[in-house]
Amino acid sequence: MRISIIGCGYLGAVYAASMASIGHDVLGLDVDQKKIDDLGQGIAPFHEPGFGKVLTEALDSGRLRFSTDYSQAADYTAHVICVGTPQQIDSAGADLTYVHAAVDSLIPHLADDHVVLGRSTVPVGTAASLLERLRAAGVKSPLAWNPEFLREGFAVKDTLHPDRIVYGLPEDPAEAARAREVLDEIYAPMLEVETPLVVGNYATAELVKVSANSFLATKISFINAVAEVCEATGADVSVIAEAIGLDDRIGPKFLRAGIGFGGGCLPKDIRAFMARAGELGVTQALGFLREVDHVNNRRRDHVVNMTRKALGGTFTGKRIAVLGAAFKPDSDDTRQSPALYIASKLSGRGADVVVTDPAANQRVHAERPNLAVAEDAYAAAAGADIVLLLTEWQEFKDLDPVKLAEVVAAPRMIDGRNVLDPARWRAAGWDYQSMGRP
Ligand code: UGA
Repeated sequence: MRISIIGCGYLGAVYAASMASIGHDVLGLDVDQKKIDDLGQGIAPFHEPGFGKVLTEALDSGRLRFSTDYSQAADYTAHVICVGTPQQIDSAGADLTYVHAAVDSLIPHLADDHVVLGRSTVPVGTAASLLERLRAAGVKSPLAWNPEFLREGFAVKDTLHPDRIVYGLPEDPAEAARAREVLDEIYAPMLEVETPLVVGNYATAELVKVSANSFLATKISFINAVAEVCEATGADVSVIAEAIGLDDRIGPKFLRAGIGFGGGCLPKDIRAFMARAGELGVTQALGFLREVDHVNNRRRDHVVNMTRKALGGTFTGKRIAVLGAAFKPDSDDTRQSPALYIASKLSGRGADVVVTDPAANQRVHAERPNLAVAEDAYAAAAGADIVLLLTEWQEFKDLDPVKLAEVVAAPRMIDGRNVLDPARWRAAGWDYQSMGRP
């Protein structure tokens, strides 16, 4: 299949390289010249394990190209919208500016036998309105929605070996048949190995995606709410998570209590889902998501309060080492990062904060110039009055408590991700605290 991909951010770039790697002819389009130049030279614009290799191999195969010239899309058959849908600046809803711009820039280059596919996460009703936009411009190409479920850190694996594929097909039977033919050809290798395929209409496909992310966010906030109760009672949330996770109706995943969820997806998706429900007159249906958001935000502030308490009630003149800035390990993405939120809050309250992250240091330096950045955990912790572990990178989990104790001013540790062994750290002389564990 000849596929053009509009938007070469996280989703689009990984999708482009992955689709080329399974034999398709792919053109990646973006308005950002630097990004296109980098990708064309095999330089990954973000940290993602395995992506560099797939990208280079796809470029070498001659099946992957990148360009800022949208007119080249005319030579391709499937056009996949992969642009971002961030939260609007002044409201909870999703900003569809980039989606509309992507469709508008494609319109002059579409032929009737082409198919437009949406992969961006959008509010329910978007696909229907985009179809109207295409038809109003005289374009007859079918449109289908095909949400993605990739996780940062596992993006290539999730794209090439998805646990399910979802098609949101148009109402018109002939258009649905054509869209399905193109989708089936794109995903032929995955369908051959019997990856579950779920087919519905536009609204269903759109809602599958936001429902999945909302469910995941709810699961995390649920266990974090239980952590709050644990802190009031002396119970251990990690033991509770283990015990309830053994019930296979509940399952053990996404029950790690800590400082909550961040990133470019979960926080904005639950807010956009609530905003859309409001527009549809079903605000109450998703009222619980407001609480999911509140619980999540409370965990971050809780760490700020724990830190102040551990430091004797003041931040003034205190040096704080923050281990981690990315919203999760194996990523350099700091969007809505709980770690960065906490670091900035502490700095704003007068503490001398030093951050270190194995992948996101440069980003922190560029985006938060008020925060000092250190090379590694030992440099960050040098002379620190307290150390906060806020992103659970393997190299932080592997830290030696005896060695780290030698460089700090006072051996105080707040483990915001519950990943260190309390007994080991306490035995090495640390005043160790974690989230929802005694
Ligand atoms: C999320 C979804 O997991 C993907 O399925 C989805 O495709 C993607 O959003 C998207 O919409 O594009 P991602 O944002 O990469 O993926 O991150 P997650 O792995 O879901 O983690 C989100 C946050 O939750 C992180 O900050 C992580 O630290 C936190 N988390 C996760 C917890 O605090 N506890 C857990 O048990 C699990």
